[in-house]
Amino acid sequence: MNDKLTELEAKKKEIAGGGGEARVKAQHARGKLTARERIEKLLDAGSFVELSAFCAHRASDFGLGDTVHPGDAVVTGGGTIDGRKVFIYSQDFTVLGGSISEVVGQKVRQIVEMAIDQDAPLIAINDSGGARIQEGVASLCGVGDILLLNALASGSIPQISIIVGPSAGGAVYGPALTDFVFMVKGMGQMYITGPDVVKAVTGEDVTHEALGGADVHAKKSGVSHFTFNSEVDCYDAVRRLLSFIPSSFRDPPPRIGTKKTHALQIDETLNAVVPDDPKKAYDMKKIITAVVDGGDFMETHAAFAPNMIVGFGRLDGQSVGIVAQQPNYLAGVIDINASIKAARFVRFCDAFNIPLISFVDVPGFMPGVDQEHGGIIRHGAKLIFAYAEATVPKITVITRKAYGGAYIVMSSRHLRGDINLAWPCAEIAVMGAEGAVAVIHRKKITESTEPEAERQRCVSEYREKFDNPYQAAALGYIDDVIIPAETRPKLIQALKVLAGKKGKNPAKKHGNIPL
Ligand code: COA
Repeated sequence: MNDKLTELEAKKKEIAGGGGEARVKAQHARGKLTARERIEKLLDAGSFVELSAFCAHRASDFGLGDTVHPGDAVVTGGGTIDGRKVFIYSQDFTVLGGSISEVVGQKVRQIVEMAIDQDAPLIAINDSGGARIQEGVASLCGVGDILLLNALASGSIPQISIIVGPSAGGAVYGPALTDFVFMVKGMGQMYITGPDVVKAVTGEDVTHEALGGADVHAKKSGVSHFTFNSEVDCYDAVRRLLSFIPSSFRDPPPRIGTKKTHALQIDETLNAVVPDDPKKAYDMKKIITAVVDGGDFMETHAAFAPNMIVGFGRLDGQSVGIVAQQPNYLAGVIDINASIKAARFVRFCDAFNIPLISFVDVPGFMPGVDQEHGGIIRHGAKLIFAYAEATVPKITVITRKAYGGAYIVMSSRHLRGDINLAWPCAEIAVMGAEGAVAVIHRKKITESTEPEAERQRCVSEYREKFDNPYQAAALGYIDDVIIPAETRPKLIQALKVLAGKKGKNPAKKHGNIPL
């Protein structure tokens, strides 16, 4: 028996050693943790249970027979974060560059199926050169397995991707299919083809970081939702995100109280946030942080389309998804990227039982040839679709402008907004006074003996009629006009009123969201 135990111990040591001492050293020299160290940093101490640890690849072509490592290039299993179960896989770059073999696919499939069956979030730590080239189509089967399960798990369990190394080739669609992508600067890179292939095909010279680094995907492509300077900060943020979201579509989000703010707390500073001059900008985040419990707002996708703000907060312990314009950036106009960003967030919240709070100050959709030709009609439709089909409680606060189609899209009563509130400075109309007068009074102004005076008279008349929330309230589209300082207690009351909501959509296989 002693021999057997010694053999077992040796095998376990080999498994724990990944690709061997030299490769682990190289991984550390690049400032990267190993696959197992990453899991330890992320999960509750001692909670990780590894599965299929002895699983090894069966390929032998191109020298693969000499590079068999038990466990292959991924560590998989289950554990807990803040006591809640999660399933996790962590690609091991020290074994054949973390490449995805048929067996890696099999190991990942095992834990994703468990995560779906057990209603637990899936976390993927990516550090891989993509499909294992030497295995041919067998490794593509491994990648295909992962992509299939990411797609099938979508909307059933939350899926989080952490990119702390390369994520290349077809395999990069794994993270792309998940709900939230976390990237570490200078470490995580995502691309369909690397710089060498780019150079060969298009002649462009580009570095790994400039092609697919964290900043590029946070600001330009919108592929990633969070950027960090270090792995440890990244794992802390993953744990924080999980505190806002449920373990599956069957569960409510966790309720976490705070002693810092009272449910009925009013905040007089909110009465002065919106400037008297309607052309002046202000920071919508001041309103959001003043309203949520303890000022704790976790913004997602912050660097992409900053004219739209999305993220999580809590109201009296209830997790909520917040969607808001940012008047400080492009006057909060809705453009293509803002539409896509908000639509995806709204759908996440709706899939996972997280009520939506929308703060509206929107001058309209972004005009321009680029936007029209880029498909603002198709992309803007995504946001309308997302809000319209969402059945979670939807509460709206119009803080200032709400014009035209952009008013409709932002969780208005017309798209099944449940409780619609407005501040007294709200302006709800088809368009701003200047533009409206130019269209409807053009003839009257040009024919006037004093055109400018006539124009100003028309603008004042229009403003008097529509630059307020009372016409909309009289028609039943606004439930209440509230004092800004009382926004937090009003939202908490509204959430209580909607707690039993059973929203329904017509029977169908699935909708056909404009993609
Ligand atoms: N299949 C098999 N082995 C792979 C691999 C893959 N897809 N990607 C990396 N590896 C191996 C490398 O051959 C190398 O092995 P070695 O040390 O025994 O020579 C090891 O992993 C480390 O890779 P290396 O290229 O030295 O690391 P790097 O940090 O310089 O570059 C990548 C990392 C991912 C950018 C680079 O390896 C790469 O471009 N890989 C191919 C990516 C790709 O096009 N995949 C397509 C699959 S769909």
